[in-house]
Amino acid sequence: MQRFQDPNETAFLIELMAREIGRPEVVLEVGVEKMGTLVIWHAIAHGDYWPAKVIGIDMVDHTAGLWRQFPGMQMIFGDAHDPATVEQARQLTEGKVDFLFIDGDHTYEGVSADFDNYWPMVRPGGMAAFHDFLQPSDFRPAVQRLFFEKVAAGAFRKVWTYAEIGRGGIGIGVKS
Ligand SMILES: C[S@@+](CC[C@H](N)C(=O)[O-])C[C@H]1O[C@@H](n2cnc3c(N)ncnc32)[C@H](O)[C@@H]1O
Repeated sequence: MQRFQDPNETAFLIELMAREIGRPEVVLEVGVEKMGTLVIWHAIAHGDYWPAKVIGIDMVDHTAGLWRQFPGMQMIFGDAHDPATVEQARQLTEGKVDFLFIDGDHTYEGVSADFDNYWPMVRPGGMAAFHDFLQPSDFRPAVQRLFFEKVAAGAFRKVWTYAEIGRGGIGIGVKS
């Protein structure tokens, strides 16, 4: 597992999650890589007496199968934009996602497709977080642009952003 996320950013998000949605029972992450964030959602969501579904999507398994060690974790390996992947996610989540973490393809078209495909699976009152959206680089402004377009379009009931110099930054929204 790689752990290089900003701990302050993660703490901000976890605190919000606890306050806004409580313990998530269905988590969907787009862009797993080596589970740096997925294991955090798993630790929060899953316990022996409170089973949760923690579902990850990635092009390939970057974890060498390590994800199988985590009870309740399920993976979909394929292009997140492929309708077959979207359909698998719909079936696994039953459209009841409490927390959606978008951290896959950071191009404008990519993050836009991820939002269009997976936001409908988030339940009313559920939360979505867009990772890597504030730092100036060749791709992150696309995530920022998409996030604020959705804010302006009224997609979210509540929104927050978190940014630290040199870190990815995150945009968070709650569904009406
Ligand atoms: C920034 S990494 C994810 C990091 C991870 N969430 C963490 O914090 O440790 C992005 C991941 O998204 C995956 N990815 C990029 N485009 C994708 C796509 N279209 N479909 C599925 N996965 C994709 C890459 O394979 C990569 O593993």
